Amino acid sequence: MGQHDTLKTPGDTKWFTHDRFGLFIHWGLYSLAARHEWVMNNEKIPVEEYERKYFKHFDPDLYDPNRWADAAAHAGMKYFVITTKHHEGFCLWDTKHTDYKVTNTPYGKDVLTPMIKAFRERGIRTGLYHSLLDWHHPQMVIDKHIGPYRELSEEDRAKMNVGRDQKKYAEYLYNQTRELLTEFGPVDVLWYDFSYVKPDGSGKGKDDWGSEKLYKLIRELAPNIILDDRLDLPDGWDVKTPEQFQPDSWVTLNGQKVVWEACQTMSGSWGYHREESSWRDADQLIRTLIDCVAKGGNFLLNVGPTGRGEIDARALSVLKQIGDWMHYHSRSIYGCTQAPDEFHPPADCHYTYNPEKKRLYVHITAWPYKNILLPNLAGKVEYAQLLHDGSEVQLTGLEAWQAHYSIGGDASSLPIRLPQVRPNVAVPVVELFLK
Ligand code: GLC
Repeated sequence: MGQHDTLKTPGDTKWFTHDRFGLFIHWGLYSLAARHEWVMNNEKIPVEEYERKYFKHFDPDLYDPNRWADAAAHAGMKYFVITTKHHEGFCLWDTKHTDYKVTNTPYGKDVLTPMIKAFRERGIRTGLYHSLLDWHHPQMVIDKHIGPYRELSEEDRAKMNVGRDQKKYAEYLYNQTRELLTEFGPVDVLWYDFSYVKPDGSGKGKDDWGSEKLYKLIRELAPNIILDDRLDLPDGWDVKTPEQFQPDSWVTLNGQKVVWEACQTMSGSWGYHREESSWRDADQLIRTLIDCVAKGGNFLLNVGPTGRGEIDARALSVLKQIGDWMHYHSRSIYGCTQAPDEFHPPADCHYTYNPEKKRLYVHITAWPYKNILLPNLAGKVEYAQLLHDGSEVQLTGLEAWQAHYSIGGDASSLPIRLPQVRPNVAVPVVELFLK
């Protein structure tokens, strides 16, 4: 068992843990409301009103998936995950199983097929997000926890649930899963969202979704697909998905390392939010990407395109800047993982490690004065360079005229000499060629 071997699961996670960086896309009718993808729930908007306002006006005339795919490709993203259907129940493809779909809007065309094509043409793998819960479907039983009708009295809710059969809803999920896994070519990631079983047994989980039957179908149709961990099946997943926070170490289950992926927004909302101002900048997001890989994980970064079908200018600018950094530094991300346990990074540094090439990457998040001491690396490095320009980093500490001083540290520490001026990149990286 290698230091960083993870729990074995059916899905093919080899490419996934090599490529590390993906684009999450939340797009739907909520993009028109432009005030959070949960707007229907948050404002308790009844189905009829939601249809009248947003379904009847969905017409993204500026939609060009090639521009989305170009932005992702430039940012160095290797897979994307699109919301085929979010909690509102609206479907982005010409599904046979409901009329609540994009082909019945003023726009009138399937948006999913051309999107997958555009990303595939740029070598970006396909991930499909699919909501388990559905605030629109007539068979989905209404509960007191989530949805526009959650605060109805018990009696009124019971009235609304007359004739609703959760089993029929599970069948709908099953049929649409079959469509998604058979009509769009090879799908690499399936991202269900989400189960919410409460301690008192209320809420919804595997029995409400028919998860076991669903899981069997998925493995039948796509044996190597990577499945997320939200079907409420203890063993039915390939990737753990911590959301909107940064784990403090490699995610484990019963002490065993697992394949994991942090999914996060640039601001707060996943769907396009016109007035949200809590945007993180590119430097923060680059450091988050580095931190994910330094802890053996992936980073799935979200954008919420507008109702006109464009990625928000604020998001495009961030993707551009991330891409400018990845242009020089992508090999400190792709094929990399957590450094061997014997190497601990000094302050203000993160390590990523390419075990195949035996390269250790020192990501410097606060520029030091001239020297850094790298613990436990003395005698273990044959050459070093800055990645943005390939310039040599000398494996030495103080200069000759400083010989009568000690730089500190112990004999096992390797001093390296850095330029006084911080390189003009978001996060400078020193590439160490280990012996
Ligand atoms: C949460 C949000 C949901 C979003 C998902 C993405 O479940 O509620 O809107 O799609 O996270 O991870």
